[in-house]
Amino acid sequence: MLNAQLLVLAHLLLLGSAERIPRLKFTLKDLPRVEFETLEKHTVQFHDERSETLYIGATGTVLLVSFTEFNASHTLIPLSLDDNARESCKSRGPLTQDFCENVITVIERINGSTLIVCGTHAGNPTCWFLRNNGTQLASDNEGHGVTQDGKGISPPSPIQRPITIAVEGNLYSAITSTGQSSGGIQRSYGRIKHMKTEDKWLQNPTFVGSAWIKGKDSSKDEIYFFFSETEDSVGLDGEPYKSRIGRVCKVDEAGSKTALQDSWTTFLKARLICGFPTESRHFNKIEDAFVLLVDDDTKNSVVYGIFSSLWNSTAVCAYSQGDIDRAFKTSKLKGFTGNLAGNQRPGTCTTSNVHKNVLTAIRNHPEIEDPIYPIKRHPLYVMKHSSYTRITADRVKGVSQNFYHVLFLGTGNGKIHKVLHSNGKSFIISELSPFQTEAPISAMTLDSGTGHLFVGTPLETVRLPLANCEGYGNTCKQCVAARDPYCGWDTAKEKCASIPRELNVSDSEILQNVEQLNVSICDGASDVEVFGEQPKELTINSGAYLYLPCPVKSYHAVYTWSYNQKDQFACTIKDGSCPLIFNGEVPMSEGLFKCTASEDGLKEELAAYKVTLNDGNTLEHGVVVFGLAAIFSLM
Ligand SMILES: *[C@@H]1O[C@H](CO)[C@@H](O)[C@H](O)[C@H]1NC(C)=O
Ligand SMILES: *[C@@H]1O[C@H](CO)[C@@H](O)[C@H](O)[C@H]1NC(C)=O
Ligand SMILES: *[C@@H]1O[C@H](CO)[C@@H](O)[C@H](O)[C@H]1NC(C)=O
Repeated sequence: MLNAQLLVLAHLLLLGSAERIPRLKFTLKDLPRVEFETLEKHTVQFHDERSETLYIGATGTVLLVSFTEFNASHTLIPLSLDDNARESCKSRGPLTQDFCENVITVIERINGSTLIVCGTHAGNPTCWFLRNNGTQLASDNEGHGVTQDGKGISPPSPIQRPITIAVEGNLYSAITSTGQSSGGIQRSYGRIKHMKTEDKWLQNPTFVGSAWIKGKDSSKDEIYFFFSETEDSVGLDGEPYKSRIGRVCKVDEAGSKTALQDSWTTFLKARLICGFPTESRHFNKIEDAFVLLVDDDTKNSVVYGIFSSLWNSTAVCAYSQGDIDRAFKTSKLKGFTGNLAGNQRPGTCTTSNVHKNVLTAIRNHPEIEDPIYPIKRHPLYVMKHSSYTRITADRVKGVSQNFYHVLFLGTGNGKIHKVLHSNGKSFIISELSPFQTEAPISAMTLDSGTGHLFVGTPLETVRLPLANCEGYGNTCKQCVAARDPYCGWDTAKEKCASIPRELNVSDSEILQNVEQLNVSICDGASDVEVFGEQPKELTINSGAYLYLPCPVKSYHAVYTWSYNQKDQFACTIKDGSCPLIFNGEVPMSEGLFKCTASEDGLKEELAAYKVTLNDGNTLEHGVVVFGLAAIFSLM
């Protein structure tokens, strides 16, 4: 027999801890998708907001994919290495498998009509241009593609994840260090001066993300980079990684002949902390980062990061842009004890000359002392058994006219978690499975304007809708309980629908409750959502091995079985069902069995069976296995 209260309590404790499980799970079929002919380990995506086109950089080619509601069609722009170059590359000795290829690593828009595309080109990075609004390879009179040296823009080897960002026609690129090169942050293409970080500023950096942070006026714009560094000597705890945020000013044009002639004069870096220091649980290696920009209120922008620990779990941390800004503007420089002439703050974005003392300070002390702590000083949550690989986020206006942050996290096995981040708390709305084959998610691009997410793995790329409201069910309670800011119960149409962008609240007929599970706003909401159909009738042999299936909807609910409206039995969720298994503790008997899911105030009957024993049956006394299929065939 079940002590239902105890189970509910245990369940609440689980949800109250830092770990999270998705409330709902969906398999999405019939999505527009492209499948790659060969395994593409290093895809890069580019997408213009509100367009239907996605550019995918792959081995020796750029795919231009056009998406419609149900289909994706693509054209190829070949940029493969020619045979001579490939042979001469191979003759240079044993190299990684795709080194002697042209793996496309960079696709960025440089102006209204042109994209720049760069590839590794067998260790000799090279760029091409796509004209006619990015549809056609720019070529000379003889039909050869116009090229440009790609050193400093694309990494020479596809092993390194390229991080680039285009700002007003200039390209900034961050190149991860390898045995041969120290890596760094560069302005690598465009009309204003090209320059880089000094080698000694960064220790074996691995870059994972970047963002353009707009200032009050354009001369205050900053470019952020996210990366991890490793100490050459590993500490006693065996933890070599430190996560970092580095920033430079857009208006930086390098120093003078005497100091930092070809280097940033505004580069500063800070430590990003993610973990539970009091419990000595640290997530030191940043894996991906995304900055959710709030245009009219930069200080309320949020930096989201995924961090891994040595123990194979990942944490999601959120940082306030206001905190980051304050740290860079006020913290001491680590190890710097001197005085600065004229109180010029190192790292200030300015078009006037930077004093030589400030240049010297930055050159020798590019790190600020204050670390950046996450909002509320701890991770949003920790994911134990699956790892996250990619993160992106959207800002969604709910029916209440409040904005909510919704994160999309890609996992190592091809799932997407849709997560609400509101009032410092997180809630995993759902887990989406859009792929045909499990593989780590390697690229994600979100289009808030059209409401789509482009997600890629080494095998396929799909486009999925940010709102998928019908999936929540066809009752008001089911819809409201989803707590999805994109969706609400449309009382006029009686369906779960996406919130129109220009919703007029005053005559809104849409019900939504995002902050917590509260279905009382639904009309005539009784306590229990009863099973809408007649109980299924089963006539069975008492000697049979039998279980009664109960479809699981919410993984946050507690499922219980009742017998003749009274006795209660527990069940265990497995493969999307919480079956009642007859055994010594749950004897098979005639009567009515019902499965009920309880979640806060929401109760829903999900299955009902009327069991009749057929003991006059001549079947051998023994075990007859009723699988799910067998039971359904009886109905
Ligand atoms: C160029 O392409 C983008 C993305 O496909 C599209 O939004 C834009 O309208 C196009 N511009 C022109 C001039 O065709
Ligand atoms: C866009 O950039 C390309 C490459 O730098 C250049 O050739 C072209 O003239 C530019 N177009 C415009 C409209 O600025
Ligand atoms: C919303 O509806 C009200 C009443 O119908 C109307 O007065 C108002 O102008 C509408 N607002 C918008 C933004 O459409």
